[in-house]
Amino acid sequence: MIHPAHIKVKALLAASPAGQEVTVKGWVRTKRGNKQVAFIAINDGSTINTIQVVANPENFDEELLKSITTGACIRVTGKLVESLGSGQPVEIQATEIELYGASDPNTYPLQKKGHSMEFLRDIAHLRPRTNTFGAVLRVRHAMAFAVHKYFNDRGFCYLHTPVITGSDAEGAGEMFRVTTLDMNNPPRTPEGKIDFNQDFFGRETNLTVSGQLEGELGAMALGDIYTFGPTFRAENSNTPRHLAEFWMIEPEMAFYEIKENMDLAEDFVKYLVSYALENCADDLAFFNQMYDKELIDRLKMVVENDFIRMTYTDAVEIIVNSGQKWEFPVSWGSDLQAEHERYLVEKHFKKPVILTNYPKKIKAFYMFQNEDDLTVRGMDVLFPKIGEIIGGSQREHRLDKLTERMAEQHIAEEDMWWYLDTRRFGACPHSGFGLGFERLILFVTGMGNIRDVIPFPRTPRNAEF
Ligand code: 4AD
Ligand code: MG
Repeated sequence: MIHPAHIKVKALLAASPAGQEVTVKGWVRTKRGNKQVAFIAINDGSTINTIQVVANPENFDEELLKSITTGACIRVTGKLVESLGSGQPVEIQATEIELYGASDPNTYPLQKKGHSMEFLRDIAHLRPRTNTFGAVLRVRHAMAFAVHKYFNDRGFCYLHTPVITGSDAEGAGEMFRVTTLDMNNPPRTPEGKIDFNQDFFGRETNLTVSGQLEGELGAMALGDIYTFGPTFRAENSNTPRHLAEFWMIEPEMAFYEIKENMDLAEDFVKYLVSYALENCADDLAFFNQMYDKELIDRLKMVVENDFIRMTYTDAVEIIVNSGQKWEFPVSWGSDLQAEHERYLVEKHFKKPVILTNYPKKIKAFYMFQNEDDLTVRGMDVLFPKIGEIIGGSQREHRLDKLTERMAEQHIAEEDMWWYLDTRRFGACPHSGFGLGFERLILFVTGMGNIRDVIPFPRTPRNAEF
C-alpha cells in the first residue's frame, strides 16, 4: 500500500495554510466533538504541540471513528487550512483516515488527567507519549547534540573509552562486576578464592565508573579529547540526583592547568544552557509553565553571570559561619554534601560556584598535589537546585608524586602500569572534568528527580524495561 509521504507535526504547524493536501501520522492525544464534527489532536513526537484534525462524521465509517481513541495510531490525509478555533494556527480537514493501531480506552494507562511521576516511572515504556517526557527526551537529544557540536567546533576528538574495564578509576570501589563464571559453582584457587583467571577476560573486570583514565591516554597523543558514554556506579544512594547507570561527558586536555580547566568547564555549561534556550524554546516554556516558574530565569542567570571561584577552605568558612543548621555538620576536611553546596549557590552567592583546592584525603589519587601537602587541584562546579554538576581536576603528571599517592591509597602500581607509562614517556601538565549528563538535563528542564530525565532509569532495586 502506498500513501503520500507524511509531514511532521512541527513542520505542519509552521507551514502556511493554503488548502494544500498533507498527510500526518501519529498518536491520538484526544478526540472530542459531536454528531456534526470530530476534533482529533495528533502528536508525533516532533514537538510538544499537537495538530488538530477536523473530521466530518458523514464522510467516515462510524466504526472507524469510534476506534479513534486516546493512544491510537493513525494516518490522516486532508487539507491544511487556517484554524478557526483558538490555540492553533492551522488544522487539517480530513479526507482520509487510516487506523494503524487501535488503543483500548479501558486499558490504555495514559488518560487525559495528569499522572504522578511515580506512576509514570512504572510505565516507563509508555511515558514518552506524555507531554512531559516527550519534552524531556527532546531536550536530552538537543543537549547530546550540543555536546558534540561544542567539542567538534573546538577541535576536540571524540574518544570511545571502554565500558568493560579492569580498573576502578575513582578508587571508590563502587563497581558492578562483569563475569561469565557460573555464580553457583565458580572455579576456585587452591586457597579457596574465586579463580578469576578462568573468567572470560582472565581477570576481574567491571563496568566502568569513568572513562577518565583512558581519556588521559588519549589526551597524551591527540591533545584535546572528550568521552561521552554510559558509566556505572553501584553506590547504594537512593537520592533524586543519583543513578546506577548515568551518562558522563569527560573532556581531557593536554597542557591545561586548573585555571584553563575551570574556564573550559564554565564556557561549556554556559554554551549548553544557551543552546537549550535557543533551540528548545517550546519545551522549556512548557516546563516553566507546568513545573517551575523560575526555570527560564534560572537558566538565563547561569548564562549571564560569571561563576564564583573560590577554594574549598574559604567555602568551609562560609558554611561554618552561616548560622544554618545542617544535617551533616562541616569542618575542614569533611566532604561537602548537597545541602552545603546548594547553600553556597542558592543562598550565599546566588550564582554558580566553582570550588578548588580540596583536601587530598577526600579526593581521588590522580589529582595534582599542591605545595601545602594538604590539598589537591580538584574542582567541582556547583549549580542551583543540583549541587555538584561537574567534578574535575588538574592531573598529577609527576611520576614520583603520583606513585606516592597511589601507595597511600593502596592502589597497586602493577595494575596501573599503562597509566603510569604516560608519566614515564612525555608527561605534561593536563586537566579534565566530568559533567553528569542527567544532572545537566535536570537543571535544564527543572525536573525534580533524576529518574525522570533518562528514558529507563537504573537505581537500587529497579531495572525494569
Ligand atoms: O565527580 P565524579 O565522580 O568525577 C569523575 O568521575 C571524574 N573521573 C571526572 C573527570 O575528572 N573526568 O563524577 C563526575 C560527575 C559529577 O559531578 C556528577 O555530575 C556526575 O558525574 N555523577 C553522577 N550522576 C548521576 N548519578 C551518579 N551516581 C553520579 N555520580 C557522579
Ligand atoms: Mg565528584
